[in-house]
Amino acid sequence: MNRLQGRKLVLGVTGGVAAYKAAELVRLLGKAGADVHVVLTEGGARFVTAVTFQALSGNPVWTDLWDPRMDNNMAHIDLVRGADAVLIAPATADCLARLAQGRADDLLSTLCLARDVPLLVAPAMNRQMWEHPATQRNVACLAGDGVTIVGPAAGEQACGETGMGRMLEPEELFEAVIAFFVPKRLAGRKVVMTAGPTYEAIDPVRAITNTSSGKMGYAIAAACARAGAEVVLVSGPVALPVPAGVKRVDVRSALDMRAAVFDALPGADVFVGVAAVADYRPMLAAEHKIKKSGEQMSITLTPNPDILAEVAALSDAPFCVGFAAESRDLDAYAEGKRANKKLPMLVGNLVADGLGGDDNTVVLYDDAGRHPLPRAAKADLAAQIVDHMAGLLPPVGGR
Ligand code: PMT
Repeated sequence: MNRLQGRKLVLGVTGGVAAYKAAELVRLLGKAGADVHVVLTEGGARFVTAVTFQALSGNPVWTDLWDPRMDNNMAHIDLVRGADAVLIAPATADCLARLAQGRADDLLSTLCLARDVPLLVAPAMNRQMWEHPATQRNVACLAGDGVTIVGPAAGEQACGETGMGRMLEPEELFEAVIAFFVPKRLAGRKVVMTAGPTYEAIDPVRAITNTSSGKMGYAIAAACARAGAEVVLVSGPVALPVPAGVKRVDVRSALDMRAAVFDALPGADVFVGVAAVADYRPMLAAEHKIKKSGEQMSITLTPNPDILAEVAALSDAPFCVGFAAESRDLDAYAEGKRANKKLPMLVGNLVADGLGGDDNTVVLYDDAGRHPLPRAAKADLAAQIVDHMAGLLPPVGGR
Protein backbone atom coordinates (compact mmCIF):
# COMPACT_ATOMS: atom_id res chain seq x y z
CA MET A 1 0.00 0.00 0.00
CA ASN A 2 2.24 2.76 -1.33
CA ARG A 3 0.40 6.01 -0.68
CA LEU A 4 2.55 7.99 -3.14
CA GLN A 5 2.48 5.63 -6.12
CA GLY A 6 1.11 7.54 -9.12
CA ARG A 7 0.41 10.74 -7.18
CA LYS A 8 1.02 13.94 -9.10
CA LEU A 9 2.72 16.48 -6.83
CA VAL A 10 3.66 20.04 -7.64
CA LEU A 11 6.71 21.09 -5.62
CA GLY A 12 7.32 24.84 -5.32
CA VAL A 13 10.88 25.82 -4.44
CA THR A 14 11.40 29.40 -3.27
CA GLY A 15 14.55 31.38 -2.58
CA GLY A 16 16.07 30.07 0.63
CA VAL A 17 19.28 28.20 1.29
CA ALA A 18 17.18 25.17 2.27
CA ALA A 19 16.38 24.81 -1.44
CA TYR A 20 19.24 22.30 -1.58
CA LYS A 21 17.17 19.96 0.62
CA ALA A 22 14.35 20.12 -1.92
CA ALA A 23 16.56 18.24 -4.39
CA GLU A 24 16.77 15.24 -2.05
CA LEU A 25 13.03 15.50 -1.37
CA VAL A 26 12.33 15.23 -5.11
CA ARG A 27 14.50 12.11 -5.22
CA LEU A 28 12.67 10.51 -2.28
CA LEU A 29 9.22 11.33 -3.67
CA GLY A 30 10.15 10.06 -7.12
CA LYS A 31 11.59 6.83 -5.70
CA ALA A 32 8.26 6.26 -3.91
CA GLY A 33 6.43 6.48 -7.25
CA ALA A 34 5.23 10.09 -7.17
CA ASP A 35 5.20 12.16 -10.36
CA VAL A 36 6.87 15.39 -9.23
CA HIS A 37 6.61 18.67 -11.15
CA VAL A 38 8.91 21.37 -9.82
CA VAL A 39 8.09 25.06 -9.99
CA LEU A 40 11.07 27.27 -9.19
CA THR A 41 10.68 30.90 -8.23
CA GLU A 42 13.29 33.37 -9.40
CA GLY A 43 14.83 33.26 -5.91
CA GLY A 44 14.71 29.47 -5.81
CA ALA A 45 16.61 29.30 -9.10
CA ARG A 46 19.43 31.32 -7.54
CA PHE A 47 20.08 28.49 -5.08
CA VAL A 48 19.53 25.35 -7.16
CA THR A 49 19.29 25.19 -10.93
CA ALA A 50 16.36 23.88 -12.93
CA VAL A 51 18.68 21.27 -14.45
CA THR A 52 19.11 19.57 -11.06
CA PHE A 53 15.37 19.34 -10.48
CA GLN A 54 14.71 18.23 -14.04
CA ALA A 55 17.26 15.43 -13.74
CA LEU A 56 15.86 14.27 -10.40
CA SER A 57 12.16 14.53 -11.25
CA GLY A 58 12.36 13.43 -14.89
CA ASN A 59 9.92 16.25 -15.69
CA PRO A 60 10.36 19.74 -17.16
CA VAL A 61 10.87 22.44 -14.52
CA TRP A 62 8.71 25.56 -14.63
CA THR A 63 9.75 29.04 -13.61
CA ASP A 64 7.83 31.47 -15.77
CA LEU A 65 4.18 32.42 -15.80
CA TRP A 66 4.51 33.08 -19.53
CA ASP A 67 6.38 29.88 -20.38
CA PRO A 68 5.87 29.25 -24.14
CA ARG A 69 6.30 25.49 -23.65
CA MET A 70 2.71 25.36 -22.45
CA ASP A 71 0.60 25.59 -25.65
CA ASN A 72 -2.06 27.78 -24.12
CA ASN A 73 0.27 29.86 -21.91
CA MET A 74 -1.70 28.57 -18.94
CA ALA A 75 1.06 26.90 -16.93
CA HIS A 76 -0.55 28.09 -13.71
CA ILE A 77 -3.74 26.19 -14.55
CA ASP A 78 -2.40 23.15 -16.37
CA LEU A 79 0.17 22.30 -13.71
CA VAL A 80 -2.33 22.00 -10.87
CA ARG A 81 -5.13 20.31 -12.82
CA GLY A 82 -4.90 16.62 -12.03
CA ALA A 83 -2.40 17.24 -9.21
CA ASP A 84 -3.00 15.58 -5.83
CA ALA A 85 -1.30 18.33 -3.83
CA VAL A 86 1.02 21.31 -3.99
CA LEU A 87 3.95 21.42 -1.57
CA ILE A 88 6.20 24.44 -1.18
CA ALA A 89 9.59 23.59 0.33
CA PRO A 90 11.28 25.78 1.26
CA ALA A 91 8.63 28.43 1.78
CA THR A 92 10.33 31.74 2.61
CA ALA A 93 8.80 34.46 4.77
CA ASP A 94 8.05 36.40 1.60
CA CYS A 95 6.34 33.37 0.04
CA LEU A 96 4.12 32.92 3.12
CA ALA A 97 3.23 36.63 3.09
CA ARG A 98 2.32 36.54 -0.58
CA LEU A 99 0.24 33.38 -0.21
CA ALA A 100 -1.58 34.88 2.77
CA GLN A 101 -2.40 37.96 0.70
CA GLY A 102 -3.53 35.93 -2.29
CA ARG A 103 -0.97 37.57 -4.60
CA ALA A 104 -0.63 36.24 -8.13
CA ASP A 105 2.42 37.85 -9.68
CA ASP A 106 4.59 34.86 -10.48
CA LEU A 107 3.95 31.27 -11.56
CA LEU A 108 4.01 29.72 -8.08
CA SER A 109 1.74 32.25 -6.37
CA THR A 110 -0.66 32.20 -9.31
CA LEU A 111 -0.97 28.42 -9.44
CA CYS A 112 -1.51 28.36 -5.66
CA LEU A 113 -4.42 30.73 -6.14
CA ALA A 114 -5.75 28.76 -9.11
CA ARG A 115 -5.53 25.38 -7.37
CA ASP A 116 -8.37 23.24 -6.07
CA VAL A 117 -6.05 20.72 -4.35
CA PRO A 118 -4.45 20.77 -0.87
CA LEU A 119 -1.44 23.01 -0.23
CA LEU A 120 1.36 22.13 2.19
CA VAL A 121 4.09 24.63 3.04
CA ALA A 122 7.42 23.97 4.75
CA PRO A 123 8.64 27.30 6.16
CA ALA A 124 12.38 28.03 6.18
CA MET A 125 13.89 31.25 7.42
CA ASN A 126 16.03 32.99 10.03
CA ARG A 127 14.65 32.65 13.55
CA GLN A 128 13.91 36.35 13.89
CA MET A 129 11.99 36.37 10.63
CA TRP A 130 10.01 33.34 11.82
CA GLU A 131 9.22 34.92 15.19
CA HIS A 132 8.22 38.27 13.65
CA PRO A 133 4.55 39.01 14.33
CA ALA A 134 3.95 39.58 10.62
CA THR A 135 5.16 36.06 9.77
CA GLN A 136 3.18 34.55 12.63
CA ARG A 137 0.09 36.42 11.41
CA ASN A 138 0.62 35.08 7.90
CA VAL A 139 1.10 31.52 9.13
CA ALA A 140 -2.07 31.71 11.23
CA CYS A 141 -3.94 33.15 8.25
CA LEU A 142 -2.74 30.33 5.96
CA ALA A 143 -3.62 27.67 8.56
CA GLY A 144 -7.06 29.26 8.80
CA ASP A 145 -7.36 28.99 5.01
CA GLY A 146 -6.77 25.23 5.30
CA VAL A 147 -3.09 25.23 4.33
CA THR A 148 -1.04 22.52 6.09
CA ILE A 149 2.06 23.99 7.75
CA VAL A 150 4.87 21.44 7.99
CA GLY A 151 7.56 22.51 10.47
CA PRO A 152 9.74 24.46 10.88
CA ALA A 153 12.22 22.91 13.32
CA ALA A 154 14.61 24.52 15.75
CA GLY A 155 18.36 24.24 15.36
CA GLU A 156 21.47 25.76 13.88
CA GLN A 157 20.74 28.05 10.95
CA ALA A 158 22.69 28.89 7.81
CA CYS A 159 23.20 32.45 9.13
CA GLY A 160 25.02 31.04 12.18
CA GLU A 161 22.20 31.74 14.62
CA THR A 162 20.28 29.05 16.48
CA GLY A 163 16.52 28.92 16.85
CA MET A 164 13.21 28.12 15.22
CA GLY A 165 13.00 28.41 11.46
CA ARG A 166 15.03 25.53 9.97
CA MET A 167 13.19 23.68 7.27
CA LEU A 168 12.47 20.06 8.17
CA GLU A 169 14.90 17.51 6.73
CA PRO A 170 13.94 15.89 3.40
CA GLU A 171 13.09 12.57 5.13
CA GLU A 172 10.78 14.40 7.56
CA LEU A 173 9.04 16.24 4.73
CA PHE A 174 8.72 12.97 2.82
CA GLU A 175 7.09 11.41 5.89
CA ALA A 176 4.75 14.43 6.24
CA VAL A 177 3.64 14.05 2.62
CA ILE A 178 2.91 10.32 3.05
CA ALA A 179 1.06 10.98 6.32
CA PHE A 180 -0.97 13.67 4.59
CA PHE A 181 -2.41 11.08 2.18
CA VAL A 182 -3.25 8.46 4.83
CA PRO A 183 -6.91 8.50 5.87
CA LYS A 184 -7.10 9.37 9.57
CA ARG A 185 -8.89 6.16 10.55
CA LEU A 186 -7.31 6.17 14.03
CA ALA A 187 -7.99 9.83 14.85
CA GLY A 188 -8.93 10.17 18.51
CA ARG A 189 -7.47 6.73 19.37
CA LYS A 190 -4.58 5.96 21.70
CA VAL A 191 -2.41 3.01 20.70
CA VAL A 192 0.05 1.42 23.13
CA MET A 193 2.39 -1.11 21.61
CA THR A 194 5.59 -3.07 22.05
CA ALA A 195 8.41 -3.75 19.59
CA GLY A 196 11.89 -5.20 19.39
CA PRO A 197 13.53 -7.87 21.54
CA THR A 198 13.87 -7.97 25.28
CA TYR A 199 17.26 -8.34 27.00
CA GLU A 200 17.35 -10.63 30.02
CA ALA A 201 20.56 -10.07 31.95
CA ILE A 202 22.71 -13.03 33.01
CA ASP A 203 25.40 -10.78 34.45
CA PRO A 204 26.42 -7.13 33.82
CA VAL A 205 27.75 -7.93 30.32
CA ARG A 206 25.77 -10.96 29.12
CA ALA A 207 22.11 -11.60 28.40
CA ILE A 208 19.51 -13.82 26.80
CA THR A 209 17.97 -11.94 23.88
CA ASN A 210 16.85 -12.55 20.29
CA THR A 211 17.37 -11.09 16.83
CA SER A 212 14.20 -9.01 16.53
CA SER A 213 15.28 -5.79 14.82
CA GLY A 214 12.16 -3.83 15.74
CA LYS A 215 11.48 -3.09 12.06
CA MET A 216 8.00 -4.64 12.00
CA GLY A 217 6.94 -2.94 15.23
CA TYR A 218 8.36 0.46 14.26
CA ALA A 219 6.56 0.22 10.91
CA ILE A 220 3.30 -0.48 12.75
CA ALA A 221 3.94 2.49 15.06
CA ALA A 222 4.58 4.78 12.07
CA ALA A 223 1.44 3.52 10.31
CA CYS A 224 -0.69 4.13 13.43
CA ALA A 225 0.71 7.67 13.77
CA ARG A 226 0.07 8.39 10.09
CA ALA A 227 -3.50 7.18 10.59
CA GLY A 228 -3.92 9.85 13.27
CA ALA A 229 -3.43 7.85 16.49
CA GLU A 230 -1.58 8.94 19.61
CA VAL A 231 1.10 6.24 19.79
CA VAL A 232 3.19 5.08 22.75
CA LEU A 233 5.82 2.62 21.58
CA VAL A 234 7.44 0.59 24.35
CA SER A 235 10.62 -0.58 22.71
CA GLY A 236 13.27 -3.11 23.56
CA PRO A 237 16.87 -2.28 22.54
CA VAL A 238 17.00 -1.63 18.78
CA ALA A 239 18.94 0.69 16.50
CA LEU A 240 16.05 2.48 14.80
CA PRO A 241 14.98 6.14 14.79
CA VAL A 242 11.72 7.08 16.51
CA PRO A 243 8.96 7.32 13.88
CA ALA A 244 7.44 10.80 13.42
CA GLY A 245 4.66 11.55 15.88
CA VAL A 246 5.42 8.54 18.10
CA LYS A 247 6.36 8.62 21.80
CA ARG A 248 8.99 5.95 22.46
CA VAL A 249 9.66 4.50 25.90
CA ASP A 250 12.95 2.55 26.00
CA VAL A 251 13.13 -0.63 28.04
CA ARG A 252 15.44 -3.64 28.26
CA SER A 253 13.86 -6.59 30.05
CA ALA A 254 10.40 -8.15 29.82
CA LEU A 255 9.69 -6.95 33.36
CA ASP A 256 10.61 -3.35 32.37
CA MET A 257 8.45 -3.73 29.27
CA ARG A 258 5.49 -4.92 31.29
CA ALA A 259 5.83 -2.00 33.74
CA ALA A 260 6.09 0.56 30.90
CA VAL A 261 3.08 -0.93 29.11
CA PHE A 262 0.91 -0.77 32.23
CA ASP A 263 2.11 2.82 32.87
CA ALA A 264 1.04 3.85 29.36
CA LEU A 265 -2.18 1.83 29.25
CA PRO A 266 -4.71 4.20 30.90
CA GLY A 267 -6.91 5.62 28.14
CA ALA A 268 -5.58 3.24 25.48
CA ASP A 269 -8.04 2.05 22.84
CA VAL A 270 -5.65 -0.43 21.26
CA PHE A 271 -2.73 -2.58 22.43
CA VAL A 272 -0.46 -4.17 19.82
CA GLY A 273 2.19 -6.66 20.93
CA VAL A 274 4.84 -6.88 18.23
CA ALA A 275 7.79 -7.41 20.57
CA ALA A 276 9.59 -10.72 20.65
CA VAL A 277 9.43 -10.91 24.44
CA ALA A 278 11.74 -13.47 26.01
CA ASP A 279 9.61 -16.24 27.50
CA TYR A 280 12.18 -16.80 30.29
CA ARG A 281 14.75 -14.79 32.21
CA PRO A 282 17.61 -15.91 34.46
CA MET A 283 16.23 -16.36 37.96
CA LEU A 284 19.11 -14.32 39.34
CA ALA A 285 21.33 -11.96 37.36
CA ALA A 286 24.88 -12.12 38.77
CA GLU A 287 26.03 -8.83 40.25
CA HIS A 288 29.51 -9.21 38.77
CA LYS A 289 30.77 -10.69 35.53
CA ILE A 290 30.74 -14.48 35.79
CA LYS A 291 34.27 -15.89 35.53
CA LYS A 292 35.14 -18.80 33.30
CA SER A 293 35.74 -21.93 35.33
CA GLY A 294 36.17 -24.49 32.54
CA GLU A 295 33.36 -26.54 34.10
CA GLN A 296 29.84 -27.00 32.75
CA MET A 297 27.48 -24.44 34.11
CA SER A 298 23.73 -24.00 34.09
CA ILE A 299 21.49 -21.00 34.45
CA THR A 300 18.12 -21.41 36.11
CA LEU A 301 15.41 -19.67 34.13
CA THR A 302 12.06 -18.48 35.35
CA PRO A 303 9.07 -17.60 33.13
CA ASN A 304 8.43 -13.98 32.24
CA PRO A 305 4.92 -12.57 32.55
CA ASP A 306 2.94 -12.66 29.32
CA ILE A 307 2.27 -8.96 28.80
CA LEU A 308 -0.24 -9.37 25.98
CA ALA A 309 -2.22 -12.06 27.81
CA GLU A 310 -2.37 -9.87 30.93
CA VAL A 311 -3.56 -6.81 28.99
CA ALA A 312 -6.16 -8.85 27.07
CA ALA A 313 -7.50 -10.27 30.35
CA LEU A 314 -8.21 -6.83 31.88
CA SER A 315 -11.90 -6.18 32.51
CA ASP A 316 -11.63 -2.95 30.46
CA ALA A 317 -9.11 -4.35 27.98
CA PRO A 318 -8.29 -2.27 24.91
CA PHE A 319 -8.66 -3.90 21.48
CA CYS A 320 -5.70 -6.31 21.53
CA VAL A 321 -3.64 -7.35 18.52
CA GLY A 322 -1.04 -10.08 18.94
CA PHE A 323 1.77 -11.25 16.68
CA ALA A 324 3.08 -14.77 16.25
CA ALA A 325 6.35 -15.63 14.53
CA GLU A 326 6.43 -19.24 13.35
CA SER A 327 8.69 -21.24 11.09
CA ARG A 328 6.00 -23.86 10.27
CA ASP A 329 2.28 -24.66 10.75
CA LEU A 330 1.51 -20.96 10.86
CA ASP A 331 -2.28 -21.31 10.80
CA ALA A 332 -2.46 -23.80 13.65
CA TYR A 333 0.02 -22.02 15.94
CA ALA A 334 -1.32 -18.54 15.21
CA GLU A 335 -4.97 -19.49 15.73
CA GLY A 336 -3.92 -21.34 18.90
CA LYS A 337 -2.23 -18.21 20.30
CA ARG A 338 -5.20 -16.04 19.34
CA ALA A 339 -7.60 -18.39 21.12
CA ASN A 340 -5.40 -18.84 24.23
CA LYS A 341 -4.93 -15.13 24.72
CA LYS A 342 -8.53 -14.32 23.65
CA LEU A 343 -7.46 -11.80 21.02
CA PRO A 344 -9.80 -10.27 18.44
CA MET A 345 -6.92 -10.06 15.96
CA LEU A 346 -3.53 -11.68 15.49
CA VAL A 347 -0.85 -11.25 12.84
CA GLY A 348 1.02 -14.43 12.00
CA ASN A 349 4.34 -14.24 10.22
CA LEU A 350 6.48 -16.89 8.64
CA VAL A 351 10.03 -16.34 9.75
CA ALA A 352 11.79 -19.20 8.01
CA ASP A 353 14.59 -16.78 7.06
CA GLY A 354 14.91 -15.46 10.63
CA LEU A 355 13.97 -12.03 11.94
CA GLY A 356 15.31 -8.64 10.96
CA GLY A 357 14.60 -8.54 7.21
CA ASP A 358 12.95 -5.65 5.41
CA ASP A 359 10.14 -7.78 3.96
CA ASN A 360 7.67 -10.10 5.60
CA THR A 361 4.94 -12.61 4.79
CA VAL A 362 1.93 -12.28 7.07
CA VAL A 363 -1.54 -13.68 7.54
CA LEU A 364 -4.15 -11.79 9.56
CA TYR A 365 -6.50 -13.81 11.78
CA ASP A 366 -9.73 -12.52 13.24
CA ASP A 367 -13.24 -13.79 13.97
CA ALA A 368 -14.03 -13.70 10.24
CA GLY A 369 -11.16 -16.09 9.39
CA ARG A 370 -7.71 -15.82 7.86
CA HIS A 371 -6.62 -13.02 5.53
CA PRO A 372 -3.27 -13.70 3.83
CA LEU A 373 -1.40 -10.65 2.52
CA PRO A 374 1.10 -10.84 -0.34
CA ARG A 375 4.78 -10.73 0.69
CA ALA A 376 5.79 -7.07 0.89
CA ALA A 377 8.02 -4.53 2.62
CA LYS A 378 7.27 -4.22 6.34
CA ALA A 379 6.20 -0.57 5.87
CA ASP A 380 3.61 -1.57 3.26
CA LEU A 381 2.36 -4.49 5.35
CA ALA A 382 2.08 -2.24 8.40
CA ALA A 383 -0.25 0.11 6.50
CA GLN A 384 -2.46 -2.84 5.53
CA ILE A 385 -2.42 -4.35 9.03
CA VAL A 386 -3.38 -0.99 10.59
CA ASP A 387 -6.11 -0.50 7.99
CA HIS A 388 -7.53 -3.95 8.77
CA MET A 389 -7.34 -3.27 12.49
CA ALA A 390 -9.07 0.12 12.12
CA GLY A 391 -11.97 -1.65 10.44
CA LEU A 392 -12.46 -3.95 13.46
CA LEU A 393 -12.40 -1.27 16.17
CA PRO A 394 -15.56 -0.33 18.01
CA PRO A 395 -16.65 3.29 17.47
CA VAL A 396 -14.60 5.90 19.39
CA GLY A 397 -15.71 5.88 23.03
CA GLY A 398 -17.73 2.73 22.37
CA ARG A 399 -15.72 0.14 24.27
O1 PMT B 1 11.51 -7.01 14.80
P1 PMT B 1 11.58 -7.66 13.43
O2 PMT B 1 12.96 -8.12 13.10
O3 PMT B 1 10.98 -6.79 12.35
O4 PMT B 1 10.69 -8.99 13.52
C1 PMT B 1 9.32 -8.88 13.75
C2 PMT B 1 8.79 -10.04 14.60
C3 PMT B 1 8.98 -11.36 13.84
C4 PMT B 1 9.49 -10.11 15.95
C5 PMT B 1 7.26 -9.75 14.81
O5 PMT B 1 6.63 -9.66 13.57
C6 PMT B 1 6.58 -10.86 15.63
O6 PMT B 1 6.08 -11.82 15.09
N1 PMT B 1 6.55 -10.70 16.97
C7 PMT B 1 6.00 -11.70 17.88
C8 PMT B 1 7.01 -12.78 18.09
C9 PMT B 1 6.41 -14.04 18.77
O7 PMT B 1 6.33 -15.06 18.20
O8 PMT B 1 5.93 -13.84 19.89
P2 PMT B 1 5.31 -15.00 20.84
O9 PMT B 1 4.73 -16.12 20.11
O10 PMT B 1 6.37 -15.30 21.83
O11 PMT B 1 4.18 -14.17 21.49
C10 PMT B 1 2.89 -14.01 20.96
C11 PMT B 1 2.40 -12.65 21.30
O12 PMT B 1 2.45 -12.43 22.72
C12 PMT B 1 3.23 -11.52 20.71
O13 PMT B 1 2.32 -10.48 20.36
C13 PMT B 1 4.14 -11.08 21.84
O14 PMT B 1 4.51 -9.69 21.75
C14 PMT B 1 3.28 -11.33 23.06
N2 PMT B 1 4.04 -11.70 24.26
C15 PMT B 1 4.76 -12.87 24.28
C16 PMT B 1 5.43 -13.24 25.44
C17 PMT B 1 5.38 -12.40 26.55
N3 PMT B 1 6.04 -12.70 27.66
N4 PMT B 1 4.69 -11.25 26.50
C18 PMT B 1 4.02 -10.91 25.39
O15 PMT B 1 3.39 -9.84 25.34
